[in-house]
Amino acid sequence: MNADGRTRLNQRPEWVALAEHRERLGSTHLRELFAGDPARGTTYTLRVGDLYLDYSKQLVTDETLALLRELAAATDVAGLRDAMFRGEKINTTEDRAVLHTALRAPRDAVIEVDGENVVPQVHAVLDKMAAFSERVRSGEWTGHTGKPIRNIVNIGIGGSDLGPAMAYEALRAYTRRDLTVRFVSNVDGADLHEAVRDLDAAETLFVVASKTFTTIETITNATSAREWLLGELKAGQEAVAQHFVALSTNAEKVKDFGIDTANMFEFWDWVGGRYSYDSAIGLSLMIAIGPDRFREMLDGFHLVDEHFRTAPPEENAPLLLGLLGIWYGSFFGAQSHAVLPYSHYLSRFTAYLQQLDMESNGKSVDRDGEPVDWQTGPVVWGTPGTNGQHAYYQLIHQGTKVIPADFIGFAKPVADLAPGLVAQHDLLMANFFAQTQALAFGKTPDEVRAEGVAEELVPHKTFQGNHPTTTVLADELTPSVLGQLIALYEHKVFVQGAVWNIDSFDQWGVELGKVLAKRIEPVLTEGEGAAGEGERLDSSTAALARAYRT
Ligand code: F6P
Repeated sequence: MNADGRTRLNQRPEWVALAEHRERLGSTHLRELFAGDPARGTTYTLRVGDLYLDYSKQLVTDETLALLRELAAATDVAGLRDAMFRGEKINTTEDRAVLHTALRAPRDAVIEVDGENVVPQVHAVLDKMAAFSERVRSGEWTGHTGKPIRNIVNIGIGGSDLGPAMAYEALRAYTRRDLTVRFVSNVDGADLHEAVRDLDAAETLFVVASKTFTTIETITNATSAREWLLGELKAGQEAVAQHFVALSTNAEKVKDFGIDTANMFEFWDWVGGRYSYDSAIGLSLMIAIGPDRFREMLDGFHLVDEHFRTAPPEENAPLLLGLLGIWYGSFFGAQSHAVLPYSHYLSRFTAYLQQLDMESNGKSVDRDGEPVDWQTGPVVWGTPGTNGQHAYYQLIHQGTKVIPADFIGFAKPVADLAPGLVAQHDLLMANFFAQTQALAFGKTPDEVRAEGVAEELVPHKTFQGNHPTTTVLADELTPSVLGQLIALYEHKVFVQGAVWNIDSFDQWGVELGKVLAKRIEPVLTEGEGAAGEGERLDSSTAALARAYRT
């Protein structure tokens, strides 16, 4: 029991029933599940907008799915979901609403926070972003010397970098190819150096993205970028206005930095950093793809929001994906989850999901502050296929770990590939389908022997199979499809946090490192005597700092 008398998650009858069901399932193989139900490959599927989800290669039966849905009902996932959509302050440790869904709500929607409809503000900012993007794209917005802007450098970190950087790569085919768009996040000076070294400052716009505008990496990089710009232009502070814009919730800090707040694009404390790239944080992306494409992307998000809000549990894709993750994490001992996109354009997709999932659900106390004694968020990892096939897939196929994986692929390549490259798409997708097939069904010792393999090699060439995967297939990677995919994962993460009874919207775990870095920095620059900081260091860190200095 919790202190307030509520039953702990893993003592709930629905949880116990799942544990018993897992026992009964034992080592049931996907081969048996498919043999027992010839229609499995078409019935264990869902369609959401442009996404076709095949979960037939998951280690589940109808009973598993029913039990998982009972767990979701018992933990009132739907109740928390509705509270989120209504704008209630479900981020309790920060006393904030969680309303990224309002960022893609239509103009006439009404969503209130503290009695105020936030939708008109959202659209006012989107309109301001659109007008600014058009001015930059058309060349009407010029730099200090009168040259049009050709380079956009986004400076941000975490949610103020990963989302726009991922989406820019994902939608490259839709971008203005005559604009150079780069993303700087690392406080390692090399990041900014490499981003600007071949740029003409007179044609460069810095987009400083920071919700708080206090993040040390971003403010340090933005300060260095300002120095670089003024040095290159041999100009004074007055040049900043044409070359710096800010994306933030903190107008005061933006002003302190020297950016005209007329050139600030606002968002709100009810937008979490890792849920923010469809807010003002997406400005660099909007400049690159244009406002119309950006709106198509928002419509894609909204489509899946509505699906999540209204679809019955049996057809609710984020609910299903969230529950499957819980199934493997808690009942199969899976520690990680691979996301494997078969699209070069999704090269940053999994890195983006890492923050979305791991910063949201990497928690070990529940909403009441009680330690959890069940698994929470998995380690999320992966890179685009087919590269991973020639690197780490070996471990997924024949290693000892349970690694559920999502395979994401597209029926068509992007439009402007040369005909020969378009033809390569079938080869890419043949690999995509082959991998989930191999993972699910493997290769038995008898099948290996039938190929005439020497007996001593049979165990080495046997594939156990039974590795669970979900396949997500869409027609084409459009802005809308990208929005649909991201919303799918956002809500999946939500579902898991709701069942686990953790606050998926705070991130206190990143604070300690920041505080300690501030203390250590003077020791590195001034030595151990620095303001008594040296004495506070443990013997290992003190020795490392000495080694660094010498
Ligand atoms: O340190 C973690 C974090 O707070 C993330 O949650 C956030 O996305 C990132 O830092 C950047 O924060 P900001 O946008 O305020 O600069």
